[in-house]
Amino acid sequence: MTLLPPTFALDESSRSLSLDPRDPAFVQDPYPAYRRLLERAPVFHWREYDHWCFARHDDVGALLRDARFGRQVLHVMSRAELGWPEPPARLTPFTAYERHSLLELEPPEHTRLRSLVNRSFLMRVTERLRPRLESLAHRLVDGFESRGEVELLDAFATPLPLLAICDVMGMPERRSRELLGWSDDIVAMYQARRDPDLERRAAAACEAFAACVRELLAERRARPTDDVLSALAESQVAGERLTEAEIVSTAMLFLIAGHEATVHGIGNGVKALLERGLDPRAALVDPERAVRLAEELLRLDTSLHLFTRYVLVDTEVDGVRLARGDRVGLLLAAANHDPSRFESPHELRPDRSPNPHVSFGGGIHFCVGAPLARMELQVGLRVLFERLPGLSLAAPPHYRDTYHFRGLEALRLRW
Ligand code: HEM
Repeated sequence: MTLLPPTFALDESSRSLSLDPRDPAFVQDPYPAYRRLLERAPVFHWREYDHWCFARHDDVGALLRDARFGRQVLHVMSRAELGWPEPPARLTPFTAYERHSLLELEPPEHTRLRSLVNRSFLMRVTERLRPRLESLAHRLVDGFESRGEVELLDAFATPLPLLAICDVMGMPERRSRELLGWSDDIVAMYQARRDPDLERRAAAACEAFAACVRELLAERRARPTDDVLSALAESQVAGERLTEAEIVSTAMLFLIAGHEATVHGIGNGVKALLERGLDPRAALVDPERAVRLAEELLRLDTSLHLFTRYVLVDTEVDGVRLARGDRVGLLLAAANHDPSRFESPHELRPDRSPNPHVSFGGGIHFCVGAPLARMELQVGLRVLFERLPGLSLAAPPHYRDTYHFRGLEALRLRW
């Protein structure tokens, strides 16, 4: 039996959990804690976050689609009502970015922006992109094949989605390193630890990133090409449908979300296969089996574990009274391991079907990039395992202390 993390303390009668999200044992393996919660208290109050959380697949799926809950609350309540102070001035560039980020909006603003943006993005993520991803994956393996060993995150799992999203969006490859730095500083704002220094770095990153996007937009207005930035710039000219601020936030969100979770989706997936000694080559050459394997890896150890929602109207769920303005947590990774939905949830079953995992969320905020992430995972794994058939772990991998993001510090491999 796997041990629970040392800081795990569950009071079942009050459904109250105390668990430090930075507890090293939890960071390395949160699944025993999720399993215990699913068994004993699938709806619980997490003291360290001070909000109620939902772990069951049914609850998470339903709440993601429930209009009584939103990612944003400031459209129905003022800061004064919520008892929130004004954000400090040092955060202005960050709040400007979030103000128009699709991920932070609710209808009707979300509906309008998402429908305008969806089309220009998804038109460019079709089967026509697959050969470009394949040649990118081969080019990356060319860079380290002869060495016999590699740190996969740095050499493959990061540049594959990073360069792919730069390609689709129209961000020049030479700026991809800068983009990675800005993105890391901005994403740090959503982790369990946050301090003024980190906030200042995030604000500076937003400022530099927005300036870069504006510069690229000006170039695209002068000389449009076949990329998402050109489409966004055009949609503004065509009928004032998107404001400059909306375009900048949208481009920033896509460039960030377009690689962060996928990098760790690839890393966690390769680790899961190698730890179990599974050779995925036969599955990966069969298109249907390749889809099933990628979905199973996304379910088994997803890179995003917890998302929150605000309560938009006073309500009650599973006997818990929730007031307007409260927050609730949806444990996507626990829902993916709910035994009432997935047989032997802790096993990697390459042909699992159906596989209704919630790694890409659900409802109106369902991941726009899911088709791209899926293609990257299928193509990336196939190229990697075909080119390096003797692949194995060169060192035991460790996860970063970045709950609710789940990704490895490094993934050292040899062949
Ligand atoms: C394995 C990789 C990925 C995972 C696990 C993932 C997961 C998610 C999840 C769970 C959400 C919903 C969050 C919520 O409901 O609160 C989301 C939203 C989003 N994702 Fe992804 N994502 C991945 C890759 C990508 C890629 C490649 C893009 C490319 C642009 C992308 C763009 C977005 C955007 C723009 C949203 C916001 C959608 C909205 O609010 O309407 N994601 N993603």
